[in-house]
Amino acid sequence: MEVDVAATTLGVGGDVSSPSSLSLLCGLSALLVLLWAVSRAAETCWLRPRRLSRALRAQGLGGTAYRFPAGDLADNGRLNEEARSKPMPPCHDIVPRVAPHLLNIVKEHGNVCITWFGPVLRMVIAEPKLVREILSDKSGHFEKFTNKRLGKLIALGLASYDGEKWAMHRRILNPAFHLEKLKSMLPAFSTCCTELISSWESKLAGSDGSHEIDIWEDFQNLTGDVISRTSFGSSFMEGRRIFQLQAEQAERIIKAFQYMYIPGYLFFPTENNKRMKQINREIEGLLRGIIEKRERAMENDGLSSGNDLLGLMLQSNKESGTSRMRMSTEDVIEECKLFYFAGMETTSVLLTWTLVVLGMHPEWQDRAREEVLSVFGKDKPNFDGLGRLKTASISHTLLSSFAYNSLLTMIRLQFPCPGDHDTV
Ligand code: HEM
Repeated sequence: MEVDVAATTLGVGGDVSSPSSLSLLCGLSALLVLLWAVSRAAETCWLRPRRLSRALRAQGLGGTAYRFPAGDLADNGRLNEEARSKPMPPCHDIVPRVAPHLLNIVKEHGNVCITWFGPVLRMVIAEPKLVREILSDKSGHFEKFTNKRLGKLIALGLASYDGEKWAMHRRILNPAFHLEKLKSMLPAFSTCCTELISSWESKLAGSDGSHEIDIWEDFQNLTGDVISRTSFGSSFMEGRRIFQLQAEQAERIIKAFQYMYIPGYLFFPTENNKRMKQINREIEGLLRGIIEKRERAMENDGLSSGNDLLGLMLQSNKESGTSRMRMSTEDVIEECKLFYFAGMETTSVLLTWTLVVLGMHPEWQDRAREEVLSVFGKDKPNFDGLGRLKTASISHTLLSSFAYNSLLTMIRLQFPCPGDHDTV
C-alpha cells in the first residue's frame, strides 16, 4: 500500500529520475554554463579591451589598436623570429634583436604608449624618470605581473608574490644571503671555477694552441654547479636533470608566449602544452626527492637542517601549522624551482655576454687583467681583495657575488674578439 502511494506521488510531481527529465536538466545546465562562458569570453576579449582602449586614448595615450583576439601577438612573434634568424654582429645595439616589436612601437607611438598581448593591455614605459617613479612606488598599486598558471610551469616563488606572502618568504630566506654566509660560499665558487679553467686548459693543451669553446654551455654548467652546492647542498649531477628540463621549459614557454594570453590556451591538448606539463611534473618530482633526502638526513641522523637555502625553508616547514613564518612543502618546491632557474640562467648569460664584450674591447681586457694580477697575483681571489679593485669592479654592483668571482678567474685568461680564432 505504501509503495503505491509513493508511486502515485512521484507520478503527480513528475519523475525527476526518468531519462527525459534528467537529460532536460543536463541540457539546461549545459546551456547556462555555455552562456556564462560566452559572456566571460566576450567581456575578456572584446568589451574590456574596448573600454580600456577608449579610456586611455581619452587621456591622450597612443599605441596600437586592439585586434580581436590576439592583439599584437602575431606581429611580436614574427618580428622576434626575423630578428633571431640571423647572427648578430658584435655590437652593443642589442634592442633590435632582443625586443624588436617593442622598439617599433616606441618609434611609432612614443615613449609612453600601449600595445596588446592578446586581450591583455600592456603599457610601454620607456621614460627613465617614470620607470624610477613606478619602481620606487610603495603604494602597492603596481603589482607584479603574474600569470599563475603559466608561472607555475617554470617557477612561482618570491619573484611572483606580493604583500604578506612575499614579506614572509623574504624573512625566512634573507639569512641565506647575509654577508658572512656569502663569504663562506667563496671556497665553493672557487672550486667550481678552478674545475672549469682546468678543463679549458686541458682542451688547449691537446690542440695546436687554439681551441674553440662554447662558453655559454660551460657557464650554464658552472652556475648550475654553484647553485646546487651552495643553496641545496647537492652535487651538480643531482641538479643537472633539473637544469636541463628548466632550459627546455624556458624555450617552450618563450615559443608558446605568442598564444599564452588567449584565455584557456593552456587547457588545449597541444603537443607543447602536454610536454610543458610533463616537464613540470618531472621537475617537481626531482625536487621532492631532494627535499625528502634532506628531511630523512635530519630525522635519521639527527642532523640540523643546515643554514643553506633549502635548510632554512625546511626548518620553517617544520614549524607549527599556525605559525606566520611557515612555508608549506608546495611553497618550498616553488622557491627551489625559482632559485635553480634564476640562479643559473641569469648569471650564465651575464658571464657569457661579459666575455663577448671583453673580447670586443681588448684594451679593457688588458686593464682588468693587469689589475687582477696586481691585487691577487697567482692566488685565488678573496673577499677582502674584491673591494680593492677599480677597473674590474665596474660591474660589481651588477654581478652577484659568485658571478663576480668567476669573472675574475676568467679575466686572467685572454679572450678573442668574436669571430677571431687566434687565441682562447
Ligand atoms: C646577473 C644576474 C642577475 C640578474 C640580472 C637578476 C635580475 C633580477 C631582477 C631584475 C629581479 C627583480 C624581478 C622583479 O621584481 O620582478 C630579480 C629578482 C630575483 N632574483 Fe635575480 N638576478 C640575477 C641573479 C640572481 C641569482 C644568482 C639568484 C639566486 C641565487 C637570483 C634570485 C632572484 C630572486 C629569488 C628574485 C626575487 C626577489 C624578490 O622578489 O624578493 N637572481 N632578479
